Amino acid sequence: LSATITTHHDFRVAPVDRKLFGAFVEHLGRCVYTGIYEPEHPESDDRGFRKDVIDAVRDLGISTVRYPGGNFVSGYRWEDGVGPLERRPVRLDLAWHTTETNEFGTNEFMEWASRASIEPMMAVNLGTRGIMEAVDLLEYCNGGTHTALADLRRSHGAEKPYGITMWCLGNEMDGPWQTGHKTAQEYGRLAAETARAMRAVDPTLQLVACGSSNSGMPTFGRWEYEVLQETYEDVDFISAHSYYQEHDGDLGSFLASAVDLDGFVESVAATIEAVRAQKRSQKRVYISLDEWNVWYQSRQDEQVPQGDDWPVAPKLLEDNYSVADAVVVGSLLISILRHSDVIKSASLAQLVNVIAPIMTEPGGKMWKQTTYHPFQHVSQMARGEVLQTLISSPTYETNRYGDVDVLDAVSVANDSEEVVFAVNRSQHEQMELTVRSGHKVRSVQATTYASADPYWKAGPSDDASVLPVVNATARIEGKCVKVTLPPVSWNVIRMP
Ligand code: AHR
Repeated sequence: LSATITTHHDFRVAPVDRKLFGAFVEHLGRCVYTGIYEPEHPESDDRGFRKDVIDAVRDLGISTVRYPGGNFVSGYRWEDGVGPLERRPVRLDLAWHTTETNEFGTNEFMEWASRASIEPMMAVNLGTRGIMEAVDLLEYCNGGTHTALADLRRSHGAEKPYGITMWCLGNEMDGPWQTGHKTAQEYGRLAAETARAMRAVDPTLQLVACGSSNSGMPTFGRWEYEVLQETYEDVDFISAHSYYQEHDGDLGSFLASAVDLDGFVESVAATIEAVRAQKRSQKRVYISLDEWNVWYQSRQDEQVPQGDDWPVAPKLLEDNYSVADAVVVGSLLISILRHSDVIKSASLAQLVNVIAPIMTEPGGKMWKQTTYHPFQHVSQMARGEVLQTLISSPTYETNRYGDVDVLDAVSVANDSEEVVFAVNRSQHEQMELTVRSGHKVRSVQATTYASADPYWKAGPSDDASVLPVVNATARIEGKCVKVTLPPVSWNVIRMP
């Protein structure tokens, strides 16, 4: 197999926004408790935060973290999670049928955010609560004068206002599973009024309205249109969520998941443009892809507890990822970069233990999933401007998406280098890739992540048998760069 990509530094898509490399921490399973927070762990810091997890979050290059949900937020009373620990109520979490101790709340999250050097993206509850509670939380977090709520925060030990800029107006409000699920009309009005009230406190906030929970929702498209009708001038983003998994052993379709993401993102962008045109607005609303990942939702052991069983921080959604999953995560990142003109914020869902790149053993070690590697490569090396990347590739037939390019790739350039991120979707054949870059290439280094067994998975006792390695086939030939990409592989080609 052979394929070519052609780029030119004058043909650009958009600058790479650091917000594309966000993640998500929800009060779900062991994401918070025994994930980022475990006071009993011998190596936790003075606030009970796992230092190994903080180090990994930094190493992964995470920019923003969405918190506290997710479905959880739609039943959350933020007041439960602030103030003296002994007075915090224990509550039922209706979203995941668990018990929430409220030991970890807003101030713990903000302290963790500061220690992990991430920007918070706070979600307000618009499922079971409303405008006033959202404004109260905003005032509690960001209030700089002496109001009751700002002083309450000070009395809880946080003297300085947090200055949180990014706020999500609820979560997946079109989903019948959501506590306080709404119609587009109901949600659109509530989101618009909440946005206006929050902006009355601080006009510089960046607000995210809920889009559809996924592109398979029966109201997908109409939901975005109706919600934006109400909110267009008052929000900066509309959310999009998308998860993928291999169905019935169909690896070919699974490896092509980015084709679906491309189509989804382009549909949402088209709907935004339709509303903008109809409103004759100058303003641009962007996409916040604030939940995306591989997630094996159909697995039986993914079931949430039932009946009288309301456990505290049980194991939930602890998917263990293969190399093939990591290759798909890499191609989803390529799709995100390719659409960096319309996606300006994205969050890998989630960060620790729950469908996550970082895993922890309670009281024990932290280990890295296969999906850690492509994410880290992109967050560290996608700097500068995304280039229009012309792909000429053989195709293969998939059950889900028809004929699909075997190669998926995108190129990013800055003053010191051009970096190509590339996936070979072939299951059996290596690919000879030729890169024809418009810029003068002085040298080339390539890194490849692949395994003879694409279903190899990392685990607590071994997360290092399969690691990204130098791809020694990378070379300059005339004006081109050539690299051989193994089957089912994730690749990074750096050209200073
Ligand atoms: O990320 C897991 C769940 O997926 C989130 O709580 C919800 O928003 C989505 O359906």
